[in-house]
Amino acid sequence: MAHAERGLWKSKLGFILACAGSAIGLGNIVFFPANAYKFGAGAFYIPYLVALVFVGLPLMILEFGLGHHTRRAFPQSLHHAAGRPGEFVGWWAILNASFITMYYITILGWVLGMLIASFGPLFDSPSTALAAFPAIGEMANPAGYFFGMLTSWWPVIFVVVVWALNVLAVSKGTSTIEPFLRFSVPMMWIMMLALIVRGVTLDGGAEGVLLLFTPKPEILADASVWKGAFSQMFFTLSLGFGIMTAYASYLPKKSDHVANSMMVSCMNCAFEYVAGLAVFSLLFVFVIQPKASTLSMMFFIVPQGIAQFPAGVKLFGVLFFALLLIAGLTSSISLVEALVSAMIDKFQVPRKKILAVFAAVGLLGSIAFAWPKVVDPTLDSNGTLGLSLLDLMDHWTFSYGLMAVGLAECLIVGWFFPARRLREEINKIARFKLSPIWDWVIKLVMPIMLTLILGYAIAGEFTAGPYGHDMNTGSIRKLHLLSLAVWLSMTFGGALLFTLLPTRADTAKEERQEGAAHAHRFD
Ligand code: PHE
Repeated sequence: MAHAERGLWKSKLGFILACAGSAIGLGNIVFFPANAYKFGAGAFYIPYLVALVFVGLPLMILEFGLGHHTRRAFPQSLHHAAGRPGEFVGWWAILNASFITMYYITILGWVLGMLIASFGPLFDSPSTALAAFPAIGEMANPAGYFFGMLTSWWPVIFVVVVWALNVLAVSKGTSTIEPFLRFSVPMMWIMMLALIVRGVTLDGGAEGVLLLFTPKPEILADASVWKGAFSQMFFTLSLGFGIMTAYASYLPKKSDHVANSMMVSCMNCAFEYVAGLAVFSLLFVFVIQPKASTLSMMFFIVPQGIAQFPAGVKLFGVLFFALLLIAGLTSSISLVEALVSAMIDKFQVPRKKILAVFAAVGLLGSIAFAWPKVVDPTLDSNGTLGLSLLDLMDHWTFSYGLMAVGLAECLIVGWFFPARRLREEINKIARFKLSPIWDWVIKLVMPIMLTLILGYAIAGEFTAGPYGHDMNTGSIRKLHLLSLAVWLSMTFGGALLFTLLPTRADTAKEERQEGAAHAHRFD
């Protein structure tokens, strides 16, 4: 089973679109505007640009270079760099990413539910008080509708549908992923442009846009702004999950990683700012105060803005949720592919088999995050059990998992591969040559920055309550330790297990030779 099973991208465009599709997701459309607002709007783009130059670009080049050089998914490519300890980090990243996959798909299930409802009753009338959440009272749709849906079992059906779409998209690797991306990435841009044109042409919309670019330098002294910008950069560029490594392992030999990284991150960050403009104009016109919660931004703050449009409410409602669904799907399939390819590379199992197993386990996880039992009728924290679990898991996987993987990845590749060798490999093809500064960014600058961010997160654990954010309800309080225990045992324990299991005959060398035979495929 050599590369016939692993496959290669048919074109450079296919690869770029796949990476851009992974990068452009819910993070761009809702998390970015929510973070930008939370961290001082205009002030945010300075730390954001610093994060792009010092973290985003160098790390993406590293992940591309690593996957391409080894022709392996993340765990085996880190094994190549640093033996078993490297492989352990790779598996830890992949298992951390599988938790994210599970709840990311639950969120997409809710998006699908809202999309279906936006053809029907979503924007029609204020919801009447929901028995489960008296706090909602006469709150206007779509908030009322959203919480009503959360307390039903409908999302389980939506989650099954979203999983099925993911399975279909990655069922044959690059040959099914590529056509899906060729269609969906341009679609996303068209939908987004329609939304922004509508947003900024509303009376007063342009002022929201100005807000996003009005600097507030005093905010730069706040460490949480920097932490916010760095985490946003990891999430939005899909770094630290092994995704970019897996995608780059399907590239033919002659590939320019510097140019590819610039193209993917430009496409992503441009989309992010365009989305920011659309959302900010809406928020400004309708004087809606976005809360810090990104989910509320997605499911009712923006939709409530749309509900007040003078015309075309349904049309733009459908457009918004369809955009979220497509953007989210192109990201979730990259998560699924990163895991599936890691398993194939280690155990040489058929893709369909491992996909079926992962989808079954993942579906159960996604259903847990959709569990409709009401645990907080006052809505002081999260409302349902599923949402509370999601919030907790998001906390562990993001504040710790992602940053720790990024840190370990830089240290391993920087010092053991080492960075200089990888840079020389990359520079053989790259038109824009990497300077030796890149080595030190990977070896030193990024590890220091990531350690500071991790330290800041741990300190927050003690100063801002047990999970760094409030969850006041008694029954939920006990969940935080349980969720931590589950997360740690599944990621650390699982990574240890996978690392220790024997690797099936390594075909990497053979594939590298075959890859060389395809050196001119993109020329
Ligand atoms: N980059 C995606 C976004 O911005 C999220 C994502 C993270 C996707 C990790 C895949 C993996 O929404």
